[in-house]
Amino acid sequence: MKPIISSNSSALNGSINIPGDKSISHRSLIISSLATGKTTIKGILKGKDIISSKSALEKMGVIIKEENGIFEVYGVGSGGLLEPDDIIDLGNSGTSARLLIGLISSHKIVATLTGDNSLRKRPMGRVIEPSKKIGAKIISKNNDKLPLTIFGTNDPLPIKYILSLPSAQVKSSILLAALQAPGETCIEEVVPSRDHTERMLKHFGAKISINLEGSSNKIICIKGQNELLASNIEVPGDFSSAAFFIIGALIVPNSSLYLKNIGINPYRIGLIEILQDMGAKIELLNKTTKNNEPVADIKVYSSELKGVDVPAEISPRMIDEYPILSIAACIAKGRTTLKGLDELRYKESDRLKSIVEMLKQFKVDVNEFEGQLMIENKNRILEGNCVIETFQDHRIAMSAVIAGLVSKGPVHIDDSSMIETSFPGFIEIINSIGGQVSEK
Ligand code: S3P
Repeated sequence: MKPIISSNSSALNGSINIPGDKSISHRSLIISSLATGKTTIKGILKGKDIISSKSALEKMGVIIKEENGIFEVYGVGSGGLLEPDDIIDLGNSGTSARLLIGLISSHKIVATLTGDNSLRKRPMGRVIEPSKKIGAKIISKNNDKLPLTIFGTNDPLPIKYILSLPSAQVKSSILLAALQAPGETCIEEVVPSRDHTERMLKHFGAKISINLEGSSNKIICIKGQNELLASNIEVPGDFSSAAFFIIGALIVPNSSLYLKNIGINPYRIGLIEILQDMGAKIELLNKTTKNNEPVADIKVYSSELKGVDVPAEISPRMIDEYPILSIAACIAKGRTTLKGLDELRYKESDRLKSIVEMLKQFKVDVNEFEGQLMIENKNRILEGNCVIETFQDHRIAMSAVIAGLVSKGPVHIDDSSMIETSFPGFIEIINSIGGQVSEK
């Protein structure tokens, strides 16, 4: 346990870099492992979750070297993963688990995956089902959760799959499995989710097409057994990590922050639209594209926020941002309603419950009803002098830190160790721009 205290701060000012995007970092390691040749990855996130993907791939025969923060991946080619000698422990990383289950399913290898207490509680049925259709056998004694053993198939089948649950992890799991299948695999997304896998596969030369084929749903098709060619990657800063600083600057008076080189994939930045509706002053500058991903600098100033209704339709485009948005809602004038939050129950913690418990500690009026949250803090002040339980969830810990910066009294956070999974250096960056966060 690493308890910390976050205290009232007068302003956040400066220009900062945010560590690499977690989703893109996972995919850069996994996809380059299947390519032919050497891929160089700059700006990769060095969080624990990414290290979990890296060591899993190494256990399956991929050589990954690191020099001065730059990774070199020597791909084994499509279908070239080897059977691991040992159990693969993926720690806290749901993305590693879901993407690797698909990938291993279409290799003729047997692998057992496990994870920490939180990951062993998260549902894997959503990726087990399509993997079985592709031809893998998967055995879990824990109700379709980790630990589980995958008996991959030598003859993966191309499938047609309707994805009614908006999930980039499930979509990516199927796409990675499809790389080894003869013929075309198609996924129909009822609600589109982040498309980092599709963009990166294209960057590596995969035969992937995306269309709407007369229906309103997005259809992604990929032709398997096609060689991927090593192609260098620069990972942009993670928008979900930047979100803590964006909201920090909005709610701490007299703040102005400049965040450099942040990924602005349209399926990730729903939060910007919502914050602008709330009255936030946010600008996107120097827009460009790096390895098929849109990137920009983000400028943000303290703003008077007002409560809004956040519709369910936008939730896949801001799914990881609800904990920190709930803090902005505590400072906003009037009521904020957040809808379509059922998926939050299956994140690193039951985030619906974690958010409610956190806001109750801040003595904010919060009601949860059928996957909706209603938040209103009439005096728009956080008293602090409280202890926040993070439920071993990195995004709850970071949200509580930001809340502490605008609280009257100190906010004690029971454990900050999970922040390492997605954002090493978070507290150092906060303190470098005027935050007051200390170890207990
Ligand atoms: C991720 C997708 C999202 C997100 C997670 C990372 C990814 O999960 O919550 O942090 O990298 O594909 P779902 O796809 O389950 O919604």
